Amino acid sequence: MTPRKIIIDTDPGQDDAVAILLALASPEDIDVLGITAVAGNVPLPLTSKNARIVCELAGRPDVPVYAGCDRPLGRALVTAEHVHGKTGLNGPVLPDPVMPLQQDHAVDFIIDTVRREDSGAVTLCPLGPLTNIAMAFEKAPDIMDRVAEIVLMGGAYFEVGNITPTAEFNIYVDPQAADIVFKSGVEVTVMPLDVTHKALVTKPRNDRFRALGTPVGIAVAEMTDFFERFDKEKYGSTGAPLHDPCVIAYLLRPDLFTGRHVNVEIETRSDLTLGMTVADWWRVTDRAPNAMFMGDVDADGFFDLLTDRLGRL
Ligand code: BDR
Ligand code: CA
Repeated sequence: MTPRKIIIDTDPGQDDAVAILLALASPEDIDVLGITAVAGNVPLPLTSKNARIVCELAGRPDVPVYAGCDRPLGRALVTAEHVHGKTGLNGPVLPDPVMPLQQDHAVDFIIDTVRREDSGAVTLCPLGPLTNIAMAFEKAPDIMDRVAEIVLMGGAYFEVGNITPTAEFNIYVDPQAADIVFKSGVEVTVMPLDVTHKALVTKPRNDRFRALGTPVGIAVAEMTDFFERFDKEKYGSTGAPLHDPCVIAYLLRPDLFTGRHVNVEIETRSDLTLGMTVADWWRVTDRAPNAMFMGDVDADGFFDLLTDRLGRL
């Protein structure tokens, strides 16, 4: 089978980094056409730099990296240094990138690529706030019909929120963008906190990354070591959730995940619940389903896949 063509839209972030590594470790399944950076976990200059650090760590300086929007559509940027550290990639010591940032704006790269490739050929994989994707849809509505699918990390239903009591970070940062994406009519598959909080890097799982003995395995172990302190304190859990790699794992092994095709609306107005993903999990409204909202993951299968693939780099 020919590899699936994807664009990774991202705000690295340690878990974004692991997602990028997983994709680049899987060339027979996934063809990464480009990586587009967005402001999120840390400001844009850092996310666009971190994406290149990760490509070089994977030995793939040929992957084009584009900088996109430096702030959400209609509000001030909220960042998450309290989780990811000052650089966004705190943990391992990694060299500054040598590979250049591409000249084009990420939004134009997304538009041009979706128009150039066959209709239905490009899957978008957002791992951060949805600003770049929404901007692309607003600027070039013709591409919405041509996108194969969007598989994103964001939102929550049973787990409710991680940045506010009711909102998950990626959706909260740019609810207006999320609203545009969920209303776009493009097929959306969602990896919410309900799934990612089951993908916990326990000590034995982290030891397996480290035991790979490679620069990638050691860097991944050090990254998760760093950001797990936050989640352990906050949730009392046994390890950090590896949110964003769930998106790439879904492309590789959809059978590891289960969910429901339901209606998902984004709260864009309420101060109290801004950015909430109102998922009609119990199908109690007549609102039309617009997203495949995942609810569960085979966590052991996920970590077996991840460790095996990272071991190739
Ligand atoms: C999401 O927010 C970021 O902190 C992570 O990278 C992930 O994409 C989890 O809420
Ligand atoms: Ca992210």
